[in-house]
Parts: sequence; C-alpha cells; structure tokens
Amino acid sequence: MKKVLLSVLLLSFSFLAFAQEKNEEKMDQFITDLMSKMTLEEKIGQLNLPVSGIMTGDAKSEGVYDKIRNGKVGALFGIKGAAECKKYQDIAMQESRLKIPLLFGLDVIHGYETVFPIPLALASSWNMDLIEKSARIAAKEASADGIGWAFSPMVDITRDPRWGRVAESAGEDPYLGGEIAKAMIRGYQGDFSKAENIMACVKHFALYGAPDGGRDYNTVDMSRQRMFNEYMHPFKASVEANAGSFMTAFNDFEGIPVTANKYLIKDVLRNQWKFDGLVVSDYTGISEMIMHGIGDYATVAARALEAGVEMDMVSEAFNSTLVKSIEEGKASVESVDAACRHILEAKYKLGLFDDPYKYCDVARSKRDIYTAENRKEARQIATECMVLLKNDNQTLPLKRAGKVALIGPLANSAINMPGMWSFHSDFVKPVTLLEGLKEVMGTNAVVNYAKGSNFLSDAELEKKLSYKNISERDGRSDAEMLKEALVTAQNADVIVAALGESSEMSGEGASRANLDIPEPQKTLLKELLNTGKPVVLVLFTGRPLVLTWEHENVPAILNVWFAGSEAGGAIADVLVGSTNPSGKLPMSFPYHVGQIPVYYNHKNTGRPMPPNMSYIKYRSNYQDIPNVPLYPFGYGLSYSSFSYGDVSLSATEMTPANKLIATVKVTNTSTVDGAEVVQLYIKDIVATSTRPVKELKAFEKVFIKAGETKEVKFEISVEDLKYYNHDLNFVAEPGEFELMIGTDSRVNNGIKFTLR
Ligand code: BGC
Repeated sequence: MKKVLLSVLLLSFSFLAFAQEKNEEKMDQFITDLMSKMTLEEKIGQLNLPVSGIMTGDAKSEGVYDKIRNGKVGALFGIKGAAECKKYQDIAMQESRLKIPLLFGLDVIHGYETVFPIPLALASSWNMDLIEKSARIAAKEASADGIGWAFSPMVDITRDPRWGRVAESAGEDPYLGGEIAKAMIRGYQGDFSKAENIMACVKHFALYGAPDGGRDYNTVDMSRQRMFNEYMHPFKASVEANAGSFMTAFNDFEGIPVTANKYLIKDVLRNQWKFDGLVVSDYTGISEMIMHGIGDYATVAARALEAGVEMDMVSEAFNSTLVKSIEEGKASVESVDAACRHILEAKYKLGLFDDPYKYCDVARSKRDIYTAENRKEARQIATECMVLLKNDNQTLPLKRAGKVALIGPLANSAINMPGMWSFHSDFVKPVTLLEGLKEVMGTNAVVNYAKGSNFLSDAELEKKLSYKNISERDGRSDAEMLKEALVTAQNADVIVAALGESSEMSGEGASRANLDIPEPQKTLLKELLNTGKPVVLVLFTGRPLVLTWEHENVPAILNVWFAGSEAGGAIADVLVGSTNPSGKLPMSFPYHVGQIPVYYNHKNTGRPMPPNMSYIKYRSNYQDIPNVPLYPFGYGLSYSSFSYGDVSLSATEMTPANKLIATVKVTNTSTVDGAEVVQLYIKDIVATSTRPVKELKAFEKVFIKAGETKEVKFEISVEDLKYYNHDLNFVAEPGEFELMIGTDSRVNNGIKFTLR
C-alpha cells in the first residue's frame, strides 16, 4: 500500500515538475518573441520605476503619462486606487507601441487600509499563521486597489535599537527572521494565480540593518563569516520561498555601495542562491551613489546595472544614461536584456500579459478593503503581538468595574495608532485606547481621560520641526496639563498611563541616541506614581527602549508597540484579560544604551563573565552596568504561569543521516488558559570557529488550558547544526552540542549530544 502511495506521489510530483517546465518554456518563448520586437530604448524603459500619485501629488503625472506612452516606464510606484491605476494602464495598453502592461508597486508593509501592527510587533506574536494571514489580507486589500507589488517584507536583522527601522524588522534573530520572511512571502504571493496574490519584494539586500552607530543609511562593514551566519539567513530563506523580487540597500559594504556591489548581487544572490526574480534599487538608490562618491550619474547607473540591479527606483538614471553608456562600452546590451527579461517575467508570472487589468477591478475595493472581517482579524492579531514586560500580579488584568484614569499623549491619538508605514490608511479611523477601553469596560466602569503631557518637551519639539506630532501639540502649558492629569488620577482606582514614542519617532530616517521615554512623559509618569495609586504603563514604541527605571518603579508594563487600525480595542482586550498576552520579544531591550548592540546570540569571548557576578576586572564586562539586557530576546509574561519539565532526547548521538527528537512537558500551573512560546536553542560547544553561546533553532506556540500539561516535540537534523566556517563553507562539524528548551533566551542547563 505504502509503495503504491509512493509511486502515485512520485508520479504527481513529476507531472507537476513537467507542467512547470512546460509553463516556463512557454513563458521564455513569449518573452523572447516580445523582446525581439523591442528597441534598446524600450528595453531600458522597462527598467524604469518612477514615482507619482500619492507620493508626489499629481504634479508629476503629465511627465509620467508621456513616458508611459513612449515606452519608458516598466512599473509605477505611488498610485493608489483601482480606477487611478486603470488610468495609467490604459495609456500603456492603448497608446504605447508594444502595449506592455505596467506593474504598480507600493509600500504595503504591515497592512493596507486595515493596518496591522508594525513588523517588530508582528514578530512578537511568534505566530506564523497569523503573520501569513496579515500579509494575505494586506495583499487582498492592496490588489483591490490596483497594487500588484508590495515592497515588503523587510528582512534585515537588527541589533541596534537606535536605528529607527528596527520597527520594520523581525528583530535580532536569523532563524525567527527567516520563518517570518517565508510566512510573509506565502501570504503576499500565494501561487500568483489569483487577483489577490501580489509580488513580494525582499529588502534591503543586504546588511542595511547594521549601520555604524545605529544611524540610518550609515556605513556597514563586517566579516563575510559574520554576514553569512548572522545576517543572511532570512534573505536566503526568502529565495527558497520563491520571493519574486529583491530590493538593494542604501548602505555600502566592504567599501562598495550595495547598489553597485557585484559580489552581493551577482555572486551571492544570483550565483550561490540561484535567485531568478527581479532586483530593484531602493528609492534613488542609484543616484545616491554619486554622494557615496563613486562617480557621476552615468557611471553610477552603469555600475548598478553591471552589478545586477535591474530596475531603477526613481533615479531615472538608467533611462537617461544607459544608451550612451552602451555606445561607449561602459554598460552592456546583455545586462539590459537580462534585466528586461526578469521584469517581463515578473509581469508574466503575475498574469498581467493575460489580463493587464487584473488588479483594476473597481468593484473590489468596496468589497475587500477595510471590511468588518479584516478589522476583526486585525484586532485579534494585534492582541497576540503585545508583550507583557512586568506584572505584580495584582495590577493586571484590570477589573472591569470601578474608575480608570487613562492618561498620556498616546491615550486618545488616532494618528499615532497605525505605526509608520500606513500612509495609505485613513488616520482618522484607527481606534484609540480611550475608545477601546470604554467599549471593553462597558457600563460598570468609568474611564476618565487626560492628555497629561506632550510627546516631547518644548525644547525638543522646536528642534524637530518635521514631526507631525507638533500638530498634536497641546496649546496648554506642561504644568496645566499635569495638573489636569493629577486631578483625573486622584479620583481613580487605577491609572493607565499611555506613554512612549509617537509613531514617527521610529521608522525610516528616525534614529535616536537616547532610548528613554521622552520628557515630559517621564515626569508625568513619576507624578502619577507619586499618587500612590496602582499604575499600568501601556508602552507605545517602535523600538526597544531603555526601561530600567520604569521596571523598578512601575507595577505593570504592557508593551503594545504600534498595533494598527484596531489598536485601542486590542490593547483593552489584553488589559482586561479577555485575551491573555502571549507575545515574546524578538529583540532585546537594553539595560542601558551603552550596551548596544546587545543580543542573546553573542560569542562567549575568552574572558566571559561568570553568571550573576557584578564587575570583575580583566573580564569582558562593564564597570557600571551588567552585560545582560533588561528584557532578553524571547521574553514575555502572561496572566498564566508555565513550568517546564526535563528535556529528553531520543538519543545522545546523531549522525548526518538520523534525526533527534527532543521532548519537553510544559504545564500551565495557573488558573488561566494561556499560550506559551516554547523555544529551543542549541549551542555548538566546540567548533573550528568561535560560535554563539546559543542559537534559536525551533519554537512552537502552544495553547495550554489552566492546570493542563502539553508535551512538545521538536525534530533536530544535521541541517540545524550547520554554520558558515571560516572558509565560508556551510558545514556541521562533528562534536558535542548542547540543546536547551525554555521560556526565553536565558535558558541554560541543557542536555548534551554528540554529532558523529
Ligand atoms: C525605503 C524602502 C521603501 C522605498 C519606497 C525607501 O526610502 O528604504 O524601504 O520601500 O523607500 O518607499
């Protein structure tokens, strides 16, 4: 019976492979025919991705129309709305010589009009099904509005919370980052067959997440061994997940801007990993290489093309210089052909040659965008992303009766709910915490609100004129606002302080050197604590902040990140305990900025600190602060409590051919049902290169009823033990390993096994 099944399976696999081959042959033939009709200018035109529409106002449209007419645009960026996209597509389909359909791209990053939590928050859910679902809904909404290409996921590994773009990342761990990248790609792309499937764009290739000093766009340099072991896994996993496109990063690496870095794009991405999709530059990434100092407009364009960049986002450098550069022998027709082919292939795979108006069905927008169903999903997903950082087990969950004082600049600010990449949403619609809390608490409770303070002090606001929150600035003085807050607090049974960053304090171009809750919010928090009432800090942030003082002084801290359109309701659900928090940090929260970068999977060094010791001279440590972060990777509390039994292994020896099964029993020792993220880490005890103290290799989020025990099993294979050695070969070296399973990355006392 088994044999019959196997043959049926093999047969269907070979049939699928055959069908795929046939499809590819058909596509190749179609594109070869089409390209044989194209002039060099038209091929270069396909390589052009200008911006228009909501990004620039309509001012640029006229110029863009002409370019489309003349075959000088391959894809367009910034257009919103099916009718609007149709307008541009009509020009391509009716007025251009070859009638090649346009592709419409946009930064659909964490939702579309229904906004999901920011990516760092989504990562905190450790729930791949939910993350995939968020991308699927985003794709459904965006595609109903004309968009066929999302500039997402961002898979940069981030270890420096000063960098504002950590908000867009999945945090510090390569394995978790890889799993999330795959889930997002599955969610966006599906199998490309439906009008709801859009193309993903994996960014920012590569190493953009490691800028010197955490300053955006800054130089990156590191060993290639570190690059492969610690930064590349999510990119490689994305290729394996069939991502349709990659975006190059703004930074340089080894002295060459990535957008002209042949080693990264051609040697690694194309030749080693066999990526066969399309490579696009970042926004003006090509022309910015003039500022990097590697040449003039024509030189940087030729260098980008020859390094493997195929589409020019916004610089217009390919369009304006390549013909001449080719005549002068500085760029080649072969590179233009290869690039043009990849762009046409992307359009073909999306089905645009069959139906150029696939994403232009105007009726869909009403049906599919910002629906009650999508909003419901957004609320549920948001509740899974929140991380309970501290609880004295009395303050939270909130009782549903009595008086709550809700205080802080984030308590009733719709504009600050969605988070940074939500310009395509409606900033008036998001549910605020005040609204959510009132809804959830119902009529048995009174919720009184006071703003309490501005986000930043007057002096800071003066310096940051570009911050939108200036418009949210209160006309009253800090003293007046504080006074009102204290009166509100006096009458309450519990104070909920909604504090932190405004949403534009993180994201692109938003690095910070201080990672505190900004003044005057911290002053407000101190005054609220001085009332002697229980205080819950509801922390809004796009990055790990330094909460050392808060941890010592505030009874309960719930980190809600920026939770999207339904933030207010979702936060309220968690505060009252109708949803039990289950998020775990994907990035360490430092004890002090001076520790940065601080991450769990560091090396041991030759002089490690013995555990639980304060300063020791001639050891790798600081005189004035501990080595460990305040809240480590993988950390997060619940209203339940869980205990772990001993880990057992199916064998103590492993060969490349066999697998080990690790088993652990996890018990919910509380009276509340809850979910726990069970995390498995491995340490390579002896290797030819230095190895991290531990690395996440598997995890499972399990729901465990109050008082129940669940057995969790993980399979470990030789693949999980491999790393890039000094010669950059991906190998598993025989010897001893240690396997640890626990509730966060602090787990130790593992069980040993040997790889033969
Ligand atoms: C960002 C990209 C983004 C692009 C288009 C750039 O500044 O780095 O992440 O996709 O703009 O908006």
